[in-house]
Amino acid sequence: MYYSEELIEEVRMKNDIVDVVSGYVKLQKKGSSHWGLCPFHNEKSPSFSVSGAKQMYHCFGCGAGGNVFTFVMNYENFTFPEAVKALADRAGVKLPEMEYTPEMKQRADRRSRLLEVNKEAAKYFYYQLRTPHGEVGQKYLQKRALTEETMHRFGLGYAGKNGALLVEYLRKKGFEDDLIKEAGLATFSEKNGLLSQFWNRVMFPIQDINNRVIGFGGRVMGDGEPKYLNSPETPVFDKRRNLYGLNFARTARSGNIILCEGYMDVIAMHQAGFTQAVASLGTAFTVEQAALLHRYTENVLLAYDSDGAGVKAALRGIGILREVGLTGKVINMKPYKDPDEFIKNLGREAFQERIDKAENSFFFEIRILEEQYDQKDPEARTRFHREIARKLCQFTEEVERENYLQAVAEKYFIRCDDLRKLVISYASQTGLAKPIERPRSGIRQKNSPEENGKKAQRLLITWITDEPALYQKVKKYVTAQDFTEELYRQVAERLFADLEAGNYNPAGIISMFEDEEQQREAAALFNTTLPKLQTRQEREKAFHDILMTVKKNSYEYYTAKLGTDVNALKQVIDGKKALEELAKTHISLDAGQE
Ligand code: CTP
Ligand code: MN
Repeated sequence: MYYSEELIEEVRMKNDIVDVVSGYVKLQKKGSSHWGLCPFHNEKSPSFSVSGAKQMYHCFGCGAGGNVFTFVMNYENFTFPEAVKALADRAGVKLPEMEYTPEMKQRADRRSRLLEVNKEAAKYFYYQLRTPHGEVGQKYLQKRALTEETMHRFGLGYAGKNGALLVEYLRKKGFEDDLIKEAGLATFSEKNGLLSQFWNRVMFPIQDINNRVIGFGGRVMGDGEPKYLNSPETPVFDKRRNLYGLNFARTARSGNIILCEGYMDVIAMHQAGFTQAVASLGTAFTVEQAALLHRYTENVLLAYDSDGAGVKAALRGIGILREVGLTGKVINMKPYKDPDEFIKNLGREAFQERIDKAENSFFFEIRILEEQYDQKDPEARTRFHREIARKLCQFTEEVERENYLQAVAEKYFIRCDDLRKLVISYASQTGLAKPIERPRSGIRQKNSPEENGKKAQRLLITWITDEPALYQKVKKYVTAQDFTEELYRQVAERLFADLEAGNYNPAGIISMFEDEEQQREAAALFNTTLPKLQTRQEREKAFHDILMTVKKNSYEYYTAKLGTDVNALKQVIDGKKALEELAKTHISLDAGQE
């Protein structure tokens, strides 16, 4: 961190979040919050709220959230120090001039050192590509029809055949061997010493949404194996939570995001003007990445390869998108293998047409299913219809299910009534398709005990932040240790310590986290939707239930850890006692009265 915590807090307190956000978003006061259209995703009715009391914002549509720093970081694409600087200027706070000195470098933590070594390596590769040594790479990229401008935009580079040079360069820049190894840039052997991990490869620096280089993908020149070599996971490279190209795609404001398979696909699409393209990082698409996409859009289009593996990946991707409440669409790439080839052959207009005609993921699934059943065999056709019925049960909202039912019936010449009967019979067998109300958006709740436990922890933190006086009443039952999610626990620890000291400062807690994704998660913790209950009894019962769920969850969590965690036994014993006591205790919600 460049600046002291006190200074950061001063800057934050002198920049009222409602004022700052009003500079970007039209806000209207309703109740205790201000509301407007979320600037981080496309929407027509306001689900973006800013709380003056908490000094935080939160979007109930896409889950974006944080304090005044994270807002400016996200909106302006600033790093944290840049956001501090901008807001300090705005409020007339003088910041000390800071330069990177060798001593500071030593003090800086591991993460920022890793980011620095990555950045320096990226510079090295970039430079190599533009020297005579890099000619192989240049030729290759030109053959792939990339312009110099595109190569520059993506920071493409080349790792030469002499693996000692990169190491030499990085050492000269002051990086220790340990760090170079930890970043996954080089490996050590007795015979050759420390050598670059990548050689004779075109290099794709992988950037996070703040444009920091967190890792690399390298494509071999020629037919070597593996075709793509990726950096290993490191403290700054989390493959599950980042996407290639998202640093650009997040501001594309095209109304959708296109998910494709490869780095080259992303680059080819951006070059053709589709700057909303992203790809996963040499690993399968994850639910974390889906949640990340949901922050920016409601419409994800899959542009996977048109071969068997691509179709399989698309089907899997659709399921993952659905888990976070997104309905994906599938772009048809035929007769080409992938977007890169498609655009090279048919151009951007043709691709735009395919985007416009992208197939709803449900119909895509049914179409793939259809191919697996012999439609002339009545027996197989029946099974096909049953499968459709089963799939329809995924729609828990009745209107939606009925709409899909009618559409699919028409398309496959099935009588609506027959299909509806199948759905009902299927639903009653499995207990599915009860018309439970699906949350409007956001990550769909799974009702596993684990998810319930997490949800109760979030609700409890929000409730205590909304009514800080409650802390005194619950502190003998609940401690930060009861928060079994690592991040929740950190937040609770700080929140409780603050309240104990008579401070109330939720927005300050967010600055504790450096990682943007964590800041967002922390902010969401303070902004869970509390149950809308009328009477005091109802509210008290709900609050009591939440407390009990948190304690039960914690009790089970530590019970499972008995024998492996020295701390667990104490937690189990205390937890059991607290649970028993809590079960017979009434906690009144009237502030100030025990
Ligand atoms: N990939 C990987 N390791 C491999 C092969 C592929 O990590 N051995 C990942 C890379 O992220 C790559 C993506 O999977 O970008 C897609 O792979 P592939 O379809 O083989 O890539 P293409 O874009 O078709 O590769 P190219 O056009 O360079 O031949
Ligand atoms: Mn390709």
